[in-house]
Amino acid sequence: MNRELEFSPERMRQIGYRVVDRVVEHLATLPSQRVGTKGDPRALLKALSEPVPEQGMEFEAVLDQVERDVLANTMHVNHPRFLAYVPGPGNFVGAMADALISGFNVFAGTWISGSGPAAVELTVLDWLREMCGLPVSAGGVFVSGGTLANLTALAVARHLKIRGPLEAATVYFSDQAHSSLEKALRVIGLAAENYRKLPSDAAFRIPIGELRRCIEQDRAAGKRPFCVIASAGTTNTGAIDPLPELSALCREQDLWLHVDGAYGAAAVIAEQGRELMAGLELADSLSLDPHKWLFQPYEIGCVLVRNREHLRDTFRILPEYLKDTQQYSDEFNFTDHGIQLTRNFRALKLWMSIKVFGLAAFRAAIERGFVLGEFTEACLRKMPGWEIVTPAQMGVVCFRNKALDDAAHLRLVQTLLEDGFALITSTVLRGQTVLRTCTINPRTTEADIQGALERLDAFARRL
Ligand SMILES: Cc1ncc(COP(=O)(O)O)c(C=O)c1O
Repeated sequence: MNRELEFSPERMRQIGYRVVDRVVEHLATLPSQRVGTKGDPRALLKALSEPVPEQGMEFEAVLDQVERDVLANTMHVNHPRFLAYVPGPGNFVGAMADALISGFNVFAGTWISGSGPAAVELTVLDWLREMCGLPVSAGGVFVSGGTLANLTALAVARHLKIRGPLEAATVYFSDQAHSSLEKALRVIGLAAENYRKLPSDAAFRIPIGELRRCIEQDRAAGKRPFCVIASAGTTNTGAIDPLPELSALCREQDLWLHVDGAYGAAAVIAEQGRELMAGLELADSLSLDPHKWLFQPYEIGCVLVRNREHLRDTFRILPEYLKDTQQYSDEFNFTDHGIQLTRNFRALKLWMSIKVFGLAAFRAAIERGFVLGEFTEACLRKMPGWEIVTPAQMGVVCFRNKALDDAAHLRLVQTLLEDGFALITSTVLRGQTVLRTCTINPRTTEADIQGALERLDAFARRL
């Protein structure tokens, strides 16, 4: 029996190499694999449920089971023909950085425990700040993803703007804002009757005139408007809210402007993206997910706040057992700037992969996403019987088959899932079910897209 939960150095190497070999084999053969598999709940639970094992077994046997029963039953979000939702085209340097931080078990909550990591995190946050055009006063923190970035930002907005009771606090966003924002509002305790979800305009953007009217009406009715949430790249269509106009309105009305750029903000480093993202630099807070369009493995999201002191004002609590962490004012404790105390060193993967590949490679990979979006739209326009519902925008295209109803579109998605060659999923725009592609994986080829659309067309004909 191994009481220490340990292996010899030789055995650790053997195990580590086995894992790396499987990862490399998986990545190298990805294009010839199925896009993924959705397991049958009963069969999977049957295969995996067992009494807690009192005695251990060989690592290799467990690894085999993981591959066979677990990893084989996933969608490969980095597969070149995974065109659904928001793909997760991670990179290998990022994956190895994750292995390093787990191996060293880095604690990135305080300077005393992780000074080198904190210095890296500050550096890479500053890169993101600069890319987004925010002032040097801005700072941020890495979190698990866009949901937690949005929650962190809205907690700051509430703390800064609403001192006192929350009952009248009112917040504005469009019907295209991501659901994580409403979830965050629930978590911070805002009354649901004070969410103003405005119908988006013809281009799926927040309507400024209607927003202004709504704010004024609310003030007259005794509400306390405090925050406008904009999207810089909506999940549905890639639409970008009019950021400069929203910023001007928020300044005039003394409202916090949070920009959810979880999906789209990274595009600011590419030429096309920079123009589309004009006004990003005006945000009071901004979410940006490196695990989406900066090609990192899950989980890494980022929240940037225009004045980094606002994060500290919102989150800093100093208990007696952490006094040793706060002896020197120039030491930076990330726990004071966010929700987590114990937190892993997610900044490392972004830092290492930017250093290894260079920002130019990231820029080119993002530009490829735009090109592939336009290619998808062009292919669809040539396919009889299909219509474009929203044109390529930030790598997202929404479309429909003219002869099929909503239910048939949902059936098409299920057919693609069973077929396994490619995955395209659906959404609903103005009450109508549409199909949607998101082509931010730079490893996707034109042939992948053509192949996926031909398959889809063949299935549609059968229906
Ligand atoms: C615009 C937008 N905001 C927020 C999120 C939530 O991010 P996460 O899934 O990383 O929590 C997403 C996810 O796709 C998104 O597209």
